[in-house]
Amino acid sequence: MASVLYSVNMNVRKRVGVLISGNGSNLQALINAAYGHDYPAEIALVISNKSNAFGLQRAAKAAIPTYIFDNKAYSNRISFEYDIDLVLRKADCDIVCLAGFMQIFSQKFTEKWEGRILNIHPSLLPCFKGLHPQRQALEAGVKITGCTVHLVTAEVDDGPIILQAAVPVKDKDNEASLSARILEEEHRIYQKGLAILANVLR
Ligand code: GAR
Repeated sequence: MASVLYSVNMNVRKRVGVLISGNGSNLQALINAAYGHDYPAEIALVISNKSNAFGLQRAAKAAIPTYIFDNKAYSNRISFEYDIDLVLRKADCDIVCLAGFMQIFSQKFTEKWEGRILNIHPSLLPCFKGLHPQRQALEAGVKITGCTVHLVTAEVDDGPIILQAAVPVKDKDNEASLSARILEEEHRIYQKGLAILANVLR
């Protein structure tokens, strides 16, 4: 009986495709969360646009299938996005998580996945969109910054906010020290944000 209940529970987990470009520490946080037997999502696959992204090794270690689509090898964005979309759909993914994926999707792609695509950004959106948000925060002289989990829409670093965490800026902070403290909070809230979305989609 216990094994029947267990398999039923596993079946309702939402299948997640995680897209990365680099280190993949947020990917690791999601992988770790998904080891929890009552976590409502599982990582079905990992896609990177960089063949040397360290996150690919993290995925392989967790026996998660990986795919590399090098955006530079494509003559246009439509075919790049087409291949990503195809792999996600073939694997029956319900949700897409951008985890340090440094590419911008077209409106066509974001509309296809509307309400089912999440991003983590290292600032308290709507402040400091785009590149180097931690540097932007230091240059602006704010005393509090943080990170945001939000749904992805056609506008970059926009879309409905799911969760945020505040991080105080210390007088002695530089970009590296501030980024490291924000990253700790990212790892904490991304898996919570994914669980919220997975439960909503049940
Ligand atoms: C994270 O700080 C993430 O928020 C940021 O890239 C880093 C990836 O780290 N993403 C963006 O800036 C997207 N706008 P990770 O590869 O170790 O997860």
